[in-house]
Amino acid sequence: MALLPILCYPDPKLHKVAKPVAVVDERVQTLVRDMLETMYEAKGIGLAATQIDVHERVIVIDVSEERDQPLVLINPEIVWTSPTKHLNEEGCLSVPGIYDGVERFDAVHVQALDGQGQSRTIEAEELLAVCIQHEMDHLMGKVFVEYLSPLKRNRIKTKMLKALREESR
Ligand code: NI
Repeated sequence: MALLPILCYPDPKLHKVAKPVAVVDERVQTLVRDMLETMYEAKGIGLAATQIDVHERVIVIDVSEERDQPLVLINPEIVWTSPTKHLNEEGCLSVPGIYDGVERFDAVHVQALDGQGQSRTIEAEELLAVCIQHEMDHLMGKVFVEYLSPLKRNRIKTKMLKALREESR
């Protein structure tokens, strides 16, 4: 297993659109294991392959308190959304230290392949539903700060670039 470096906003590679996985083989299963290890190490609740510069439709999630319920979504598609949305505070491993409100569907049904390549439908609500929508945005090249006002987004961009400069000093 390997820990993978996570891309940081505003890295342009975060805006690449991921391609579907053709077959869930050993290569993809290794990717999934590495992504889970990276997510747990970073204390995140979700990670999209885009964030580790792999542009394939793979997501790992664990919203459990005990950190022992990994969920693997390969080629996820939203097949149903609730009629209602609400505002949630979100954060992202690619935008460390930034939390802000984003409107999401209260519940979604998602069809995806699991880590064994089996098709399944997940009925998600609350935190899991928010997390799935957030991670699926990553696969489309979208970072949550892009929902915020241009003013806020520019402030975040400046802050992130400053932190990067200080790190590389
Ligand atoms: Ni994120």
